[in-house]
Amino acid sequence: MKIVIADKSHFIYAETISDTIDQAAQVRGTGIAKRTPEYIITKIENGNAVIALEGNKFAGFCYIEAWSHGKFVANSGLIVHPDFRNIGLAKQIKKKIFEHSRTKFPNAKVFSITTGLAVMKLNSDLGYHPVTFSELTDDQTFWKGCQTCKNYDVLQRTNQSMCLCTGMLFDPISDKNKENKKVKEKAFKRLKSIKQTLFLKNKKS
Ligand SMILES: CC(C)(COP(=O)(O)OP(=O)(O)OC[C@H]1O[C@@H](n2cnc3c(N)ncnc32)[C@H](O)[C@@H]1OP(=O)(O)O)[C@@H](O)C(=O)NCCC(=O)NCCS
Repeated sequence: MKIVIADKSHFIYAETISDTIDQAAQVRGTGIAKRTPEYIITKIENGNAVIALEGNKFAGFCYIEAWSHGKFVANSGLIVHPDFRNIGLAKQIKKKIFEHSRTKFPNAKVFSITTGLAVMKLNSDLGYHPVTFSELTDDQTFWKGCQTCKNYDVLQRTNQSMCLCTGMLFDPISDKNKENKKVKEKAFKRLKSIKQTLFLKNKKS
């Protein structure tokens, strides 16, 4: 299996990707917005998509979108072809697109809205936390993407404050703070053990 940043050689898969997303939406009956082949091509053209291929066969896809002038980034449109499900492919695609997002937009908060348990699990593993929609982008172009979802009326009724999807967020600053805290705790423990050793030595002598 090849999992790569998609380029123009992958334009030929745009129609299949769009159809696979459509079919998945019909099967699940909820919570997946439509993506046209043209939209998918734009994502590929801008170096903002990851594709998985088994030989020449389409296996999976996901893309990045930037919102609020790059303050937020979403990893959207995750799809694994039914022939390749339950073998950990979504996990690998999500990891690849997440790393790509962090490299391309290092200061952006990465978010996701989903009704799917699989995606919630994957997001948690990557360090996302559940949040209310108020913590996500207020960029209207993002929320317009929900128009083709069959639950859009719920989002409208609640003034965009909640819907059937769960919002999840990775915040690079709080993640960095957590890392810093861990480093400080480790340094403190080390200092404490050095001091204790010195104290014992002094006591003995
Ligand atoms: C959701 C989807 C992307 C999962 O792809 P996949 O390659 O089969 O997923 P993976 O094999 O990488 O599994 C990832 C994790 O999710 C779990 N999982 C997979 N499918 C699941 C499901 N239908 N329900 C609950 N958990 C599921 C796996 O057990 C695994 O968890 P683990 O790490 O604890 O073992 C795929 O089923 C799909 O394309 N569905 C249709 C489109 C869709 O729903 N997209 C998401 C829109 S938000």
